[in-house]
Amino acid sequence: MIRKAKAALCREHNKPVVVEEIAVDAPKRGEVTVKLGACGVCHSDLSAINGTIALPLPLVLGHEGAGVVEEVGEGVSDLAKGDHVVFSFIYMCGKCRFCVAGRPVLCLEQGRALTTPLEGTPRTRDAAGAPLNIFSGCGAMAEYATVSAENLIKIDPKIPLECAALVGCAVTTGVGAVFNTAKVQPGASVAVFGCGGVGLSVIQGARIAGAERIIAIDTLEPKLEMARRFGATDVLLFADDVVKPLKKLTGGGPDYAFECVGSGELAATAYRAIRRGGLAVVVGVAKPSESTAVRTMTLPFEEKTLTGSYFGSCVPRVDFPRMLSLYLAGRLQLAELITRRYAIEEAPQAFVDLQSGKNARGVVVFQ
Ligand SMILES: NC(=O)c1ccc[n+]([C@@H]2O[C@H](COP(=O)([O-])OP(=O)(O)OC[C@H]3O[C@@H](n4cnc5c(N)ncnc54)[C@H](O)[C@@H]3O)[C@@H](O)[C@H]2O)c1
Ligand SMILES: [Zn+2]
Ligand SMILES: [Zn+2]
Repeated sequence: MIRKAKAALCREHNKPVVVEEIAVDAPKRGEVTVKLGACGVCHSDLSAINGTIALPLPLVLGHEGAGVVEEVGEGVSDLAKGDHVVFSFIYMCGKCRFCVAGRPVLCLEQGRALTTPLEGTPRTRDAAGAPLNIFSGCGAMAEYATVSAENLIKIDPKIPLECAALVGCAVTTGVGAVFNTAKVQPGASVAVFGCGGVGLSVIQGARIAGAERIIAIDTLEPKLEMARRFGATDVLLFADDVVKPLKKLTGGGPDYAFECVGSGELAATAYRAIRRGGLAVVVGVAKPSESTAVRTMTLPFEEKTLTGSYFGSCVPRVDFPRMLSLYLAGRLQLAELITRRYAIEEAPQAFVDLQSGKNARGVVVFQ
């Protein structure tokens, strides 16, 4: 059965998002159609709109989604109609050496299910019948989405879908960067550059990991107030000489610094800020033209590390339930991350608000 769905699309770079009624095909073999409950508005969607993340247009946006299984295709045995699921924006083949080694974010087959389900042909078309690509195997900013079953993780149905959706990107990216990539130790000092949905999740992760000092840095004052609510012990309004106050606050530099903005220059700043033997983690996605320079000598003499974290180095089937159990135990705040809810028709406004830094997270909620 073909389903009609209102969806947020990017048709042209640097132009406002458009909301159109699209057609979503029934699932083929190994695929599932989901009726969306909620979809978070992530900076990576904005990066697809401005071309930083190069995905072919026209594109159905959205990758931070959660919903209810509507129909399963042939051969799908682990999901059934009525199951609640969170989207995972990485495709995991389960067979390549990275998947087998427990690092599915590096799956060698990822490129195959990037803009369509794995089979390679689109399930989404516009009113004129022209095919539409989907963002990172998801296209979840739509009333319905048909995706590969591997892109869906079953969750406990008692979790509100708008909270579960955040686990599909910001929360797993941020908390995972702390738990899995950096393995932050209790008592540590942590600096976080950028307090959007991702940075605030790093702050929460650091708090849960037992960090003693959590210093939030942003260009916007209201973001610093939000950061305090999620566990920041100190805040700094971003300035060119931010390294100096960071070194002073921590007596030589934080043990860890997380770049959650997407700037090559800021990644270098994060690296400069950390102490001897410290670890700087780049989570933000910078433009392809940007690069990061470090003083080479500091690598041997100070044993500093600069690394990256993709989707919190997560294993979705392990980490999504882990995040959600922290939520159910009252240790991870999810509802509190949602500053504003939008109807799908308001998706263009949601992106305007993301760009101006109004929200911790904006979430599109579906009827
Ligand atoms: N690595 C991954 O897997 C992954 C996953 C999701 C998002 N991302 C990336 O993470 C970044 C953050 O995403 P988000 O959704 O939280 O974005 P966001 O737009 O909600 O938040 C970014 C924050 O950075 C602040 N900021 C801007 N310039 C700054 C500066 N110079 N110093 C300090 N703060 C500054 C903004 O005011 C804003 O609060 C983006 O680049 C996004 O593409 C990466
Ligand atoms: Zn995202
Ligand atoms: Zn793989």
